[in-house]
Amino acid sequence: MQLHFPALLMCSTLLIGEDFAEAQQRTANYDEAKIAAYTLPPLLQSADGTSIQTAEAWSQKRRPEVLALFEQHVFGKTPAPSTWGKVVFKVTGIQKEALGGLATRKFIQVTLPEHPNWQGLEIMLYTPNGSGRPAPCFVGPSFGGNHAVSPEPDVPLSTRWMRPSKDKHIVDNRATEASRGNESSRWPLEMILREGFAVATYYYGDVEPDHAEGWKEGLRAALSPQGTHTVWQNGDWGAIGAWAWGLSRIADYLETDADVDAKHLAVIGHSRLGKTSLWAGAQDSRFDVIISNNSGEGGAALMRRNFGETTAIITKAFPHWFTPTYTTYAGNEAACPIDKHMLIALAAPRPIYIASAVEDQWADPKGEFLSGLHAQPVYDLFGKKGVGVPEQPGIDQPVGDTVGYHLRTGKHDVIDYDWQQYLKFAARHFGR
Ligand code: GCU
Repeated sequence: MQLHFPALLMCSTLLIGEDFAEAQQRTANYDEAKIAAYTLPPLLQSADGTSIQTAEAWSQKRRPEVLALFEQHVFGKTPAPSTWGKVVFKVTGIQKEALGGLATRKFIQVTLPEHPNWQGLEIMLYTPNGSGRPAPCFVGPSFGGNHAVSPEPDVPLSTRWMRPSKDKHIVDNRATEASRGNESSRWPLEMILREGFAVATYYYGDVEPDHAEGWKEGLRAALSPQGTHTVWQNGDWGAIGAWAWGLSRIADYLETDADVDAKHLAVIGHSRLGKTSLWAGAQDSRFDVIISNNSGEGGAALMRRNFGETTAIITKAFPHWFTPTYTTYAGNEAACPIDKHMLIALAAPRPIYIASAVEDQWADPKGEFLSGLHAQPVYDLFGKKGVGVPEQPGIDQPVGDTVGYHLRTGKHDVIDYDWQQYLKFAARHFGR
């Protein structure tokens, strides 16, 4: 028996990433009674002890502090624009009769001429035909590439590194013909376009392949002072920061496209990409609606609740998503000067929607709701109603005014039900 111990230990240290997270899912705590009492860090008290009592004091004094705390302790700091320099957008394809004539589809290549080591990202943009006016737009990254989002067979197949898929359509970390349309149920393009909205998306792996060493091939290495950064310091950006950067570059492009109403952009993401959309929305005020779909730990879920995934699990499985400091809060959440109600509050006074799924206990649906609820004091400063209810609502009962929330039937995913709520929410807030 003794002989087996070192071997087992080796296995457990080698196990990181998806496999580690999946193994933890079975043993995580799912019992409310076992959550220890916790105190959330103060939202409306600034570092010098001043109590924040007006919208102006929030915007001028406390909000920048909270944003800086997320940079220092969670996601790291996005480099300044001077770091990446010029951004070039090149429209590489236009199909005016896409989706049977419903939409115009464009591809736009985004590159950084001063950083040729980075291969660039490709935006796929669908705008509705025949409306006669610029369309408000959903902006979100995809897990599988543009060819996976779109059902159209002429969308170029991404040649970039991809995570293996359970149904084996990724071979040697590359997409295959069988990958086409694989993510289209999460992107009901026709439904969105018929409601008069545009959709802009990109493959998150264009910015950085999603594995612990992925940064070496991605934007973060290309922008680092040596061009090959090897040791990430506390406060340096992680992959989520880099993926969020990609979303902001899409916003840059959309501001130049006459088919899009770039004053009405909704940023959206699912799961790790929901963490990304929250961080993109916190940093970039051009996203005037922010949507987090099942973003869970590291996203909307309160980190102080030991329910489902924890800080210890996520920082061990996916250390590359965050700045190194975040790992120091594994099992020591009380020491972290932020919790996720503060991430939601960074959206204020803009509308934000948090969505949970009842079979997605790993993401802690109640913790996701509570973040929205506890962001209310900041929405109050702006005279805005947030979720509008004191308790998590029942299944399939969407709530909320400026902070939308639902707990839907089913598992960790994005389904039409989610989009129906997002379309209503965005239409209401965009005055359409
Ligand atoms: C894992 C991880 C989650 C993440 C999810 C996803 O389950 O533990 O934090 O949200 O992957 O992105 O699919």
